[in-house]
Amino acid sequence: MTEPPNFRIELLEGRAALEHVPCFARAQVEVFGQPPWNLKWYEGSVDDPKSALGFHTWAANNDSAYLGAYAGDQLAGFAVGLALNEDVIRTLELDQFGAAPGDYYFLVACVLPSFRRQGLYWLLIERRMELARAKKSPTLWVRTHVDSTTVTRYYREEHGFDEVARYTTVDYGFVTVPRVVLRKVVLAEAPV
Ligand SMILES: CC(C)(COP(=O)(O)OP(=O)(O)OC[C@H]1O[C@@H](n2cnc3c(N)ncnc32)[C@H](O)[C@@H]1OP(=O)(O)O)[C@@H](O)C(=O)NCCC(=O)NCCS
Repeated sequence: MTEPPNFRIELLEGRAALEHVPCFARAQVEVFGQPPWNLKWYEGSVDDPKSALGFHTWAANNDSAYLGAYAGDQLAGFAVGLALNEDVIRTLELDQFGAAPGDYYFLVACVLPSFRRQGLYWLLIERRMELARAKKSPTLWVRTHVDSTTVTRYYREEHGFDEVARYTTVDYGFVTVPRVVLRKVVLAEAPV
């Protein structure tokens, strides 16, 4: 049996995140082009918001915290989270679920196929959960594919998230995506 790689997790924010955007964009195209997502991401360019490069440039410019997991020099997976503001809520269409400025949103996370089933996603979301806690956000949000059961199980069973909505979108490329939205209320009332 081979030993699992010793993953190194790096926190990248601001300029450091922007520098790594091409690498995250390539991983995004590869991973989310596969089941269950089957999305037609393409690398594109930083000023094309529908492309993977544009999406990650937008996220990095909106104070997202990127956690990159590396096996040696190779990107094995990543997770992104950000505190919400009005613009981000509107762009991500989160107002329909009641998300508010100051809440924390787990934007995207993935593990490259050859590094799966070794607990890397778990490591990444635990680190991302710490970042959210440090922000003292009143509510935490995550949205995923209904068939991403590893994801929904971790959030529900390990962190007490509740399902608040299920809905279907038809994304560009005419791909139908059934999504589930999960939420955890951390504080009954936001601090004054
Ligand atoms: C979902 C995803 C992130 C999981 O990544 P991962 O690193 O394989 O996740 P983990 O290793 O933590 O857990 C995966 C499974 O392996 C199991 N596992 C964890 N460590 C293990 C180990 N050492 N040996 C065997 N199995 C293990 C987990 O219990 C889990 O089981 P389950 O699927 O039955 O619940 C990955 O498949 C992915 O990138 N999918 C596409 C993108 C996506 O859906 N992202 C999330 C939503 S944005």
